[in-house]
Amino acid sequence: PNTILIGAPVDAGQRRPGCLMGPAAYRVAGLAQAIGGQGHTVDDWGDLTCPEVEAPPCPNPVVHSLAEVLGWTQVLSDKVDDALSEGAMPIILGGDHSLALGSVAGAAAYASRTGRPLFLLWLDAHSDFHTPLSTTSGNLHGTPVAYIAGRTGFEVFPPFPAPVPADRICLYGIRSVDPAEHAALLEHDIAINDMRVLDEHGVVAPLRAFLDKVRLAGGMLHVSLDVDFLDPAIAPAVGTTVPGGTTFREAHLVMELLHESGLVTSLDLVELNPFLDDRGMTARLMVDLVGSLMGKKVFDRPTRAK
Ligand code: ARG
Ligand code: MN
Ligand code: MN
Ligand code: MN
Repeated sequence: PNTILIGAPVDAGQRRPGCLMGPAAYRVAGLAQAIGGQGHTVDDWGDLTCPEVEAPPCPNPVVHSLAEVLGWTQVLSDKVDDALSEGAMPIILGGDHSLALGSVAGAAAYASRTGRPLFLLWLDAHSDFHTPLSTTSGNLHGTPVAYIAGRTGFEVFPPFPAPVPADRICLYGIRSVDPAEHAALLEHDIAINDMRVLDEHGVVAPLRAFLDKVRLAGGMLHVSLDVDFLDPAIAPAVGTTVPGGTTFREAHLVMELLHESGLVTSLDLVELNPFLDDRGMTARLMVDLVGSLMGKKVFDRPTRAK
């Protein structure tokens, strides 16, 4: 497809500075070349800036940088909708995961106008299912899935354009869930592919089951890829590392399956903190994964001479 890169130097959804360097790191690591190399056009819209908006008073005093997150939500929703309206696949270069409050809102607005159902694949160590009322860290990067699913508690946000029904949401790779998120998830029909499920069934079957649903419904598919989906040993450049993440091979296989499905219509790359990276290894891995998602085949099975 035609792709549009949208830089989103968002740092406001958490407290450790550095994610704002993410878009620059992806460009240095050759993201445009990796996508272009697979025969797609790449249009780089540059980095967005955050509009000044006023935040309503928030009932939960621990919530951090609400006005800034609201500003990003507004501009990202608008730009992702614009990119989809041009018939392109937007790729959002984050920035922390709070950017998905806006990117998925834009995808949902577009989907509801065109009458296609939107599905969400959340590749993450975390479920990000807090509301601004339930969060104890106050970091709004822990809330987008709840916003997208239409949970109450987001009265300080603009209403989500067309909430995604729980049975169209797939959490995949999760291994860190807070008590309030856990309780709320039990009341929703969201597919929870935590590491226990992936260990038992492998990465392929659970993903295929979800992709089959998307295909059958003629749906659009937004993929949100958090760096901490990956094991910290191969992807150290993230503020919220959790041990036991997906391996290099598993992650590439997921991307290859997504490519073969032909279903992905928009993509977030989030939580890369280049300040924490080790000689660019995480930025490069993320770029390589996008390459696989866009059609690159990785040959890592050398034939042994007999
Ligand atoms: N559940 C924790 C919190 O709410 C961690 C969230 C991590 N989210 C992320 N997008 N990395 O603070
Ligand atoms: Mn617009
Ligand atoms: Mn996340
Ligand atoms: Mn995460």
